[in-house]
Amino acid sequence: MIRKIVDGVYNVGVVDWDRVLFDEIVPLPQGTSYNAYLIMDEKIALVDTAEPYKWDELKRNIEELGIEKIDYIISNHAEQDHSGCLPFLLGEFPEAKIVTNEKCKQFEMDLLHIPEEKFMVVKEGDVLSLGNKTLEFIMTPWVHWPETMSTYLREDKIMFTCDFFGSHVATSHTFARDYDRIYHEAKRYYAEIMMPFRSFIERNIKKIESKEVKIIAPSHGPAYDDPSYIINAYKEWIDARPRNLALIAFVSMHGSTRKMVDHLIDALTSRGIEVRARNLITTNLGELAMDLVDAATIIIATPTMLAGPHPAAVSATYLINALRPKARFAAIIGSYGWGGRAVDILKSIISVKIELLEPLLIKGLPSNEDYKALDELAEEIKKKHDSIEFQ
Ligand code: FEO
Repeated sequence: MIRKIVDGVYNVGVVDWDRVLFDEIVPLPQGTSYNAYLIMDEKIALVDTAEPYKWDELKRNIEELGIEKIDYIISNHAEQDHSGCLPFLLGEFPEAKIVTNEKCKQFEMDLLHIPEEKFMVVKEGDVLSLGNKTLEFIMTPWVHWPETMSTYLREDKIMFTCDFFGSHVATSHTFARDYDRIYHEAKRYYAEIMMPFRSFIERNIKKIESKEVKIIAPSHGPAYDDPSYIINAYKEWIDARPRNLALIAFVSMHGSTRKMVDHLIDALTSRGIEVRARNLITTNLGELAMDLVDAATIIIATPTMLAGPHPAAVSATYLINALRPKARFAAIIGSYGWGGRAVDILKSIISVKIELLEPLLIKGLPSNEDYKALDELAEEIKKKHDSIEFQ
């Protein structure tokens, strides 16, 4: 499938309709795509490639456009879902140069064993003329690796951003049209890999906005012919102010922790706090990550298993550390049968900067006293929320 972006610019990338997992952890409920953009001028450039196992499809799409050479392969990011076909392309088009920054070059030499002489290194603001079309290279690091960059096609005002502004969506649309669906999937994508790099994203958005951009063309999901839509969504997600939202990430073995969670949901809701309760055994990690984009408070609820927290609660805590959400407050609640160190162990794992409220660990089924303690925790969360500014 080839999709025209503008005259002389085509998305020849590959749609991966039924891929279910990325990085062996990130669920892909909508599949994904690896967009690669062929720019046809006196010189021919390809922006990004695809997963190596999609080489046959990428090759077929390139051949369909009837080109006999590629002069430049612009590599905005070294991760293999965009760089993986570089060795095949160099085999097919041995005269092609890989155009990228120094750091990306080093990564691709390490990850793909591409010889150094195949590269043309560019830096911030460098330009490359293709004839009537001009490419300008803009360094947009840490979205989400240190070497990430964007490429601006001046005459057509297209910004190729690779992962930045991407979404894991398999679609035959060239441009985003089903905005509700795209918003959800772009937010999921942001939550899963971009969220820890909010300050870099803010700086990079300013760089993108310093150019006149008519089209944002990422390398996952649809392109945007209304760039303000995705830029404004990103501005909303990186806003330092959370929402009046408490996320309860819970797991329960015999129902005691679940009773605590159910009571806390009511206690928080009756105090005007929105609640998202995610069962860690059944929830999709992407949904949990999306809640972390907005939540002001995170509550981890765990039973005691083999004298410590349930492994699902440990895993969720590790994910929270990795994603570095903007939440200001956290609490640990749970239950035990005969003892253990569930709270101490979870506390020792938490590494994000967050105010930890008094934990609540109870013995067996919750008693009236325990429910009262949960009401007090809800009241404390309410007070904390009243003390901060929401988005
Ligand atoms: Fe889509 Fe960071 O790779």
